[in-house]
Amino acid sequence: MPTDTPQDGYDLVVVANRLPVDVSLDEDGSPSWTRSPGGLVTALAPVMARADGAWVGWGGSPGLELEPFDVDGTRLVPVTLTSDDVERYYEGFSNDTLWPLYHDVIAPPAFHRQWWDAFQRVNRRFAEAAARQASPGATVWVHDYQLQLVPAYLRELRPDLRIGYFHHIPFPPLEIFAQLPWRRQVVEGLLGADLLGFQRAGDAANFVRVVRRVTDLTTRGQTITVDEGTDHQRVVRAAPFPISIDSRAFDALARTPQVQERAREIRRELGDPEHLLLGVDRLDYTKGIRHRIKAYGELLEDGRLSATDTVLVQVASPSRENVGAYQQLRDEVELLVGRINGDHGQVGHTPVQYLHQSFPMEEMAALYLAADVMLVTALRDGMNLVAKEYVAARSDDRGALLLSEFTGAADELNGAVLVNPHDIDGMKDKIVAAVHLDARESRKRMRQLRRRVLSHDVAAWSDEFLAVLTSMPGSTRG
Ligand code: G6P
Repeated sequence: MPTDTPQDGYDLVVVANRLPVDVSLDEDGSPSWTRSPGGLVTALAPVMARADGAWVGWGGSPGLELEPFDVDGTRLVPVTLTSDDVERYYEGFSNDTLWPLYHDVIAPPAFHRQWWDAFQRVNRRFAEAAARQASPGATVWVHDYQLQLVPAYLRELRPDLRIGYFHHIPFPPLEIFAQLPWRRQVVEGLLGADLLGFQRAGDAANFVRVVRRVTDLTTRGQTITVDEGTDHQRVVRAAPFPISIDSRAFDALARTPQVQERAREIRRELGDPEHLLLGVDRLDYTKGIRHRIKAYGELLEDGRLSATDTVLVQVASPSRENVGAYQQLRDEVELLVGRINGDHGQVGHTPVQYLHQSFPMEEMAALYLAADVMLVTALRDGMNLVAKEYVAARSDDRGALLLSEFTGAADELNGAVLVNPHDIDGMKDKIVAAVHLDARESRKRMRQLRRRVLSHDVAAWSDEFLAVLTSMPGSTRG
């Protein structure tokens, strides 16, 4: 049912599972918020300010009911999730069904009909909130796998809107996607959009192939023709738009004297190791943290890396801690780290510095600058922005990036040392090679990496997506 169109709504509405801020209630019941430093926020901030924008999303705590409020000229519209919604829609269907399914079933996806019911109900709530904010003919940009049904729900409510969707994680091959009991409904949900953006060409191609198999629609290259009743057709386009970071801001941050001094201090505090290796991830089973630490432990065991002269700093920021697979991963990683430090540590020296914490951007920039080799060994990753942050921080043209073939970034970042993280022996050889890369070769590679990361930043990404979206033809008759 079309909804009432607000005459004074917003011309650009972003819809994402999370708001760009985390909201909580103070003891006196008044709301307070902290900015979440995610890339999407930085990317869209200028676009939103220019375009009279609103952002619809969840504030991050269950049960919180809040009126819309303004931050830096952007209207933030909180969507309430009850604790039952958090359990079934967020932890359940989003992160225990879709997340593992879309990441090559690295962990087994769980299929529960009650989770699916909650997923539909919450997606409808997001669509209704967006429909209430959008001005006539506005552009609505929906983000990520948690909201795959929003495009179709929104089109039903507001056929006047131009709807874009960006998928931040991988889109799996048909053979895996086909396991989903609600595969047709999810595809139809996405096809409510005019433009569907994916990280890699392969993800867009997987989606188009899925459309051909689970619907009877016609596809041609990147386009899908959707029938909307008699004589009424709409064209949907599925194309790659690899996301990036605010590279210049990161580069500038890493050039500040404070960050440079902190980088030197980190090395001193670690005992001035000859080789400093670094891993930075959300503690997630897709990131290949266990594989990386295992390879490192074996290199110490074999004596190919010296346990006294080498340190691996592993930042693993807490994530989705109520989901069983994440709790299990934490136990496994911590057991492994404990073993390696027990076997190879000395008084005053631990070969693995494991930090189950999140750090501000300044500290991250200093860690990137301090590290000789950055280890990105994801088993599957939509893009991996940590790899890009490392490159953006290295204005000294030093350091080496070891990068898994199974990241979106690997399609783009020529100059990285590519690895298959499942091949532990191969990864050990590549780590040793990266550690001993000669200075000229490493500078050449880093320059090549920096050219790409600095020229293709997140502003270019959002500009390109929105330019294609707004130039798309609308529905046609006949
Ligand atoms: C990935 C997803 C995002 C998500 C982020 C953090 O990058 O693509 O949609 O927001 O992880 O996960 P969380 O569950 O804490 O939002």
